[in-house]
Amino acid sequence: MTSSQAACLRAALQVGYHLLDRGGSALIAVEHTIRVLERSGLFNAGRGAYLQLDGVRRMDASIMEGDSLRAGAVASIEGVVHPISAARYVMEVTEHVLLVGPMATKFAQHFKLEPQKRPAPQLVLSYDLVLKRMRTTRNRHGTVGAVALDQSGTVAAGASTGGIDRMLPGRVGDTPIIGCGVYADNETGAVSMTGWGESIMRLAVAKEICDRLRRGSTPGQVVRVVFQRLVKKVHGSAGALVLTPQGRFTIVHVTPHMAAGWWDGKGEPTVKDRFQ
Ligand code: GLY
Repeated sequence: MTSSQAACLRAALQVGYHLLDRGGSALIAVEHTIRVLERSGLFNAGRGAYLQLDGVRRMDASIMEGDSLRAGAVASIEGVVHPISAARYVMEVTEHVLLVGPMATKFAQHFKLEPQKRPAPQLVLSYDLVLKRMRTTRNRHGTVGAVALDQSGTVAAGASTGGIDRMLPGRVGDTPIIGCGVYADNETGAVSMTGWGESIMRLAVAKEICDRLRRGSTPGQVVRVVFQRLVKKVHGSAGALVLTPQGRFTIVHVTPHMAAGWWDGKGEPTVKDRFQ
């Protein structure tokens, strides 16, 4: 983690906490925390999102709140700085959960979300070349996410990503899939995932963590059990932020690093790039 990323994470935590401290909802705190990270260009989301192999930046995001179990998501959205806000609009102004592709982009434009300059057009690549490039995939991640608990006892979770390095055009990972990249339920907790989306989807990890929390284990115990299975069964790699309505939380990863942090309003926010 660079010093700029650490400073940005602290700023994002402060934005989210101050909203909660003033009586704001967990949902709004999650959205605005993630907006700071998307805007920075320092992470794989928003301004910093990876390009797909045809040179186009297609992003995914989702958000969910644990009282009503309402959720919103966008996949393969282009040309906006804040996919997380597009996801919140899907949740709040439609009866749907997920919008995809050009129609998700059009939806965001309708609500005048801040546009993002599109990268210069690339040479048209043959599909053979695209596939060859894909096979040299490096497992760099960097999805951004947040979980929050507000004064009413409601939890929320969100995530936003540019996907993984060197992905096929049109590829969508776990982030916009409710139950995979995020889940939030006031009866169990809020979960936001980062990591290799194809592995996270196969185990529906966010919902699996919530289901196991219901059985009474601590967040740390639950995530470790789920991650053991993720690694053993599908050779997965991931990190999780988990927060319960009782205020218990954990940050666990089976990646070498995970830049993350927390703040309860006392002292300075804690930010590290390794947890266990
Ligand atoms: N976890 C982000 C992705 O795989 O797209």
